[in-house]
Order: sequence, then structure tokens, then C-alpha cells
Amino acid sequence: MIRLDKYLSDAAPYSRKEVRELVKRKAVTVNGVIAGKVDMKVDENRDNVWVNGKNIVYRKFIYLMLNKPQGYLSATEDDRDPVVVDLLPEEYRHFAPFPVGRLDKDTEGLLLLTNDGQFDHELMSPRKNLYKRYYAELDLPAVEADIGLFAAGMEFREFTARPARLEIDPADPRKVYVEISEGKYHQVKRMCERAGKKVLFLKRVAIGSLELDKELPCGQVRELTAAELAIFGW
Ligand code: URA
Repeated sequence: MIRLDKYLSDAAPYSRKEVRELVKRKAVTVNGVIAGKVDMKVDENRDNVWVNGKNIVYRKFIYLMLNKPQGYLSATEDDRDPVVVDLLPEEYRHFAPFPVGRLDKDTEGLLLLTNDGQFDHELMSPRKNLYKRYYAELDLPAVEADIGLFAAGMEFREFTARPARLEIDPADPRKVYVEISEGKYHQVKRMCERAGKKVLFLKRVAIGSLELDKELPCGQVRELTAAELAIFGW
């Protein structure tokens, strides 16, 4: 059981002060009865809370899939550049979501956002060994020998990249898919560079078996479904 004002400030974009105002104006009902006090206790799992005729279902955490466009930093704020949370509709912002991992400013595609620290921790954990799949366009065609180069892992100044998979589009070998199980700084670009190619375009298309929704336009966000969360054991 939690206080009505906590219920509404967790689950909807209202401050505690706004909840006081709403209750005063008799705009809030609990199980069909007008709420009289903000400190009344409600059962967040069973009670039926409405504000101005809108049902507010309780939840503390959100899990979002964003199709990240180029030009945005994977951050919650920045002094100079636009950040991915700028792309979120108002209804999600009060949950204070943050990006799970990072994509470069010029990388597009699948980025998850949440306000659940444990979910973030689980997905970022190296022991999870979660593959991230990227589509890349290169300045030069990839060749068969590059596949072995990626599969062998690569030594970099500050880390050793684990074995990665490279898939070459037979119709156009400048188009490739790269799968890595880490997410070190500029990792895909640096691995391609080691093979003598420059990445001209990069898009993340999957994290583990969660694929970027092909119906989700670039710059748009939607909530993960229960089935998608279950992929990560959530
Ligand atoms: N590798 C990169 O080089 N950039 C990204 O944004 C993600 C992976």
C-alpha cells in the first residue's frame, strides 16, 4: 500500500503539489469514489485510480525502445548537443529514463532506455555475453579474409576485442553485419579500420534476440512488450 500522491507522482506526470490540487478539485477517484485526501493509502496492485476520467495504472519502471537518429548523444543531458531523452514524449520523461549503453552520435538504430537500474546492470554485465548486431556500410568492399580477422578477436591499446562475427552482403560487399559481445568505445568502427575499411554508416539492428522494430520510424520510441522484456529474463 502506498500514498495516493506517491502513486500518482510515480505513475503519471504529476508533482505531489499537482496531486494536491487535483484532489482538491475532486478530479481523482479511487475505485469509483472521489478521493478526499492525498495521504490516503491505495493498493498499487489492485486499486483502480482515475484522474480527470483517465485510468492511471501504477508502475514505477519503464522500458523503451528508441530508433536513434544521427546527431543525438546517448546521454540524459549535455551543454552542447541534443541528447536522446530530448526525443521522448512528455508521458515518459517524468520517469527519468536513461540510455542502456551507448551509441555514437553518428550511429543510428536500436537504443534501450529505462529508469530501472537493475535492468541496465543486467544488460551491461559482461558475463551476460549479449551480442549486439550492427549493419555497416564501408568505403571499401569487405573480403573473406576479414571474417577470420574478426573471428580471431583484436588487440587494441586499452582492450582485447573478443571474437566477433562479420557477415558480408554477397550482392554488395561494402555492406556488412558485425556482431560484437562488448561495447567498447567506437568498437565496430575500430575493428573495421583494423581490416582497412572506414565505416561510412552504422546502425544497430539487434541486442541479443531483440530486433529493432522495422515499423518504428527513426527518432520514434515505443515501450518494450512483455515478450521483448522476457528475452532478457525480465
Ligand atoms: N561501435 C561503434 O563504433 N560505434 C557505435 O556507436 C557502436 C558500436
